[in-house]
Amino acid sequence: MTEHDYDSLGYNGMSKRLFAAWYDLLNAGVENRVIPYRRLTAGLANGKVLEIGGGTGANLEFYPPGADLTFVEPNPHMAVRLQRNAEKLGRSVTIAPGFGENLPFEDASFDTAVTTLVLCMVSDVESVVSEVRRVLKPGGRFLFYEHVVSTHKLLGIWQGLFNPIWKFATTGCNLNRDLSGEIGRAGFSQVECRRFSLSVGVPITIPNIVGVATV
Ligand SMILES: C[S@@+](CC[C@H](N)C(=O)[O-])C[C@H]1O[C@@H](n2cnc3c(N)ncnc32)[C@H](O)[C@@H]1O
Repeated sequence: MTEHDYDSLGYNGMSKRLFAAWYDLLNAGVENRVIPYRRLTAGLANGKVLEIGGGTGANLEFYPPGADLTFVEPNPHMAVRLQRNAEKLGRSVTIAPGFGENLPFEDASFDTAVTTLVLCMVSDVESVVSEVRRVLKPGGRFLFYEHVVSTHKLLGIWQGLFNPIWKFATTGCNLNRDLSGEIGRAGFSQVECRRFSLSVGVPITIPNIVGVATV
């Protein structure tokens, strides 16, 4: 994987560079609270594993030792950090430039797919989830941990109103997506999804989901 491999994606520029440079620092305040959900996603992966939007590799240390890891990551500055962090941990990984909406893999080629805090950022959630289902083998599992729109009407309205500012400040994260609905409608044979509130510091909590969808 070289930065040159990323030229054709056109997903570069200063905001992507800054997002990658600051991501771990910005996350540091909540990372301890997120770790249980990394264990419930990456930690339960098996076989040939595809992580979409791997970022700097925050899930790397949670994958079981035998997992065969492939990442799709469109941001070249994230990919460089992901590669470096994998080397530090002694993990052999494949990193592919690309988008979740159009995965560069054959049908039925993975046992597990993982997203953590990614579906809030992609351009087209329906396409990504449909691609996840396509590349999973029969019986394959999609393990997800995401933040979502609130089911509480007033909070949901507030998330919608605040979303443009939040999206701008975070270079593309959306607060107001119904991701459990998107996953539920995607044609998986079984979906288990738990909803909970993650405290990101008093008095703010963010609605989250964690779960598994089986092909
Ligand atoms: C908020 S970060 C999460 C990183 C990591 N999964 C984690 O848990 O810390 C979102 C990641 O998704 C990537 N991303 C954004 N749009 C994407 C897309 N359409 N397909 C795949 N990855 C995407 C971003 O480059 C970034 O690395």
